[in-house]
Amino acid sequence: VAEAYARVDGSYYLRFSKLPDFPAAQADLGRRLFFDPRLSAGGTLSCAGCHQPARAWTDGRARARGAGGRTLARNTPTLLDLRGHTLFFWDGRAARLTDQVLIPVRSHAEMGQSLPDLIAGLRAVPAYERDFRAAFGGPATADRVARALTAFLYTLNTPADSPFDRGRTDPAALSPAARRGLVLFAGKGRCLLCHQGPMFTDHRFHNLGLKPRRGGADPGRWAVARVPGAFGAFLTPSLRNVARTAPYMHDGRFKTLAQVVSFYNRGGDSPGTGVYPLRPLGLSRRERKDLVAFLESLNSTLPAVAVPAPYPAAPGRAPAVAEADATPPPPAPAATDRPEPADAAAPPRGATTLADACRAGTVEALARALGAGGDDPRVQLLRGELYDQTVRVFVYRALAARSGAPCGALAGLSRGSAGILQSADYFCRDWYHELSFVRAAAEGGPGFGPACRAGLRWSYRDFDAADARAVCGAVAGHLDDPARLCAALTPRYLDPRQLGACEREYALLGGRAYACARGPRLLPEWNERRCEEYTLYRRARAARDPAVCGSHALCRALMGGAAAEADAVSRRVLAEACRRPESGS
Ligand code: HEC
Ligand code: HEC
Repeated sequence: VAEAYARVDGSYYLRFSKLPDFPAAQADLGRRLFFDPRLSAGGTLSCAGCHQPARAWTDGRARARGAGGRTLARNTPTLLDLRGHTLFFWDGRAARLTDQVLIPVRSHAEMGQSLPDLIAGLRAVPAYERDFRAAFGGPATADRVARALTAFLYTLNTPADSPFDRGRTDPAALSPAARRGLVLFAGKGRCLLCHQGPMFTDHRFHNLGLKPRRGGADPGRWAVARVPGAFGAFLTPSLRNVARTAPYMHDGRFKTLAQVVSFYNRGGDSPGTGVYPLRPLGLSRRERKDLVAFLESLNSTLPAVAVPAPYPAAPGRAPAVAEADATPPPPAPAATDRPEPADAAAPPRGATTLADACRAGTVEALARALGAGGDDPRVQLLRGELYDQTVRVFVYRALAARSGAPCGALAGLSRGSAGILQSADYFCRDWYHELSFVRAAAEGGPGFGPACRAGLRWSYRDFDAADARAVCGAVAGHLDDPARLCAALTPRYLDPRQLGACEREYALLGGRAYACARGPRLLPEWNERRCEEYTLYRRARAARDPAVCGSHALCRALMGGAAAEADAVSRRVLAEACRRPESGS
């Protein structure tokens, strides 16, 4: 149970701990707007018509019904704990809450209201006029409506008081069934592959191979990003309070959690195709019940929100105003940062011996040679399907080793170890800035400041410039001393309980000398042999002489080697696995 707890909650501490600060007057105004049907054409439907407080801010329908009575394509998600999200909507098409909150207002299918009409309507109500001035010092604009709604939404937080959270320190808080369920969740059920961290989501997109509904498949992420694997993929939802937000999935096709668990247990709707990430789990009836009991243990206390009475309509006609621009979405990483399509090296077919496979250097070839299925842990490890820090760190480091753009490094790397990076493309899109941050943090150096700030503001969307400066300052100032670094981040940015996790994570990113000095208890993967090699690298770097590395491939790659060297490191991981096929390494 302790191990399951550790696995669930190990990472993403920063994302969850920073609460954006909005003035109370803005949140209050946002609450009023949220419950006001003026936001829809014809004044029939407020945000709360679909996001109902009594139903954990959902509508209980399989798919939402808009102002015109039309059924929409998707299930209404809860609005609880949005601070823990990095992307919004089932397809992640909004990256900032303020970009997102006006979309339903304008959407014809949802509220069908025009912004100029809405703003004119609000300006005509004296009480709103007063509230907007108090909150923003000026009259209603589309941007201020968005900011007020955002401020309100960020008050809808749940405390960490669910049986699951309390069970961490008080074993009696979690029922025996839920405890067994937790272990299944983190183990046999494989749920942790995608539902990880404090919000139980990896903030990524997956196509679970759900049978398409009649009337056509929902393209999901594809509508936003035309990248391989995006079609039919949806953002992994949070599982916090999930027992209250039935029905489930993007189209609400499952009425109960038991049905969801059965779906996973049978390996999805197309088990055994190898196309989708699920496979039959072989859970017994009792185990399925235990898993449901665990999901039910994620309910925490809901925020109490007073529903305001709408302001009375204003007499007379409202003045017309020009449409105020909503904030444009943040620019996507420039197209030139995208990797070139992997040109060469289609996996050679028919590699049958281990030697062939190792020469080919692909996971597919290795799997064939081992006669191993996709669920063999060795193959999974190399595919990056194990939530194994070592592999992730390895990838980070190999990336950090390259002085060029991370995506260029990735293209080179993925030829040698396609499986370690499930998809170079998605790393380059979603992780682009995070990686540049990681790289900058790992390397220190002059590029650190700007890259760090850009990375943080992209990754942790509610960080403003001052936050980013403060955090980057702390990171830069104590790069080699994660304990002090983390202390500098507490308590404004970090939950003090996460100090340990913070220290480990920053040790992974930057403080390798520190990790080595602290010994393998901090980071088991930084064992003696690796630390020796790392020390060698430090020496080589100090001397600015790659020759100091001798034949040590990792050291040479870290010295800023060419693609071939980064590739060699990834090949070495494969080679080690090849040498010791039985050890499961
Ligand atoms: C007709 C029902 C309906 C109304 C009215 C409505 N929503 Fe939604 N809301 C939805 C649906 C459905 C989704 C998911 C859409 C998707 O993913 O494509 C959603 C998604 C969201 C999300 C993203 C949540 C997440 O976890 O990604 C936010 C935030 C949100 N709505 C806020 C609002 C606000 C603010 C209003 C009022 C201005 C509002 N909604 C009005 C149905 C509605
Ligand atoms: C490969 C990644 C992946 C794995 C593994 C996975 N999930 Fe999910 N889960 C998702 C995605 C993506 C969705 C949304 C899918 C959709 O709507 O199309 C989802 C949806 C859900 C939902 C519905 C939530 C809601 O609000 O509608 C529940 C409950 C759930 N998963 C629980 C589990 C459990 C329990 C397991 C382990 C048995 C598990 N998941 C394994 C990715 C995954």
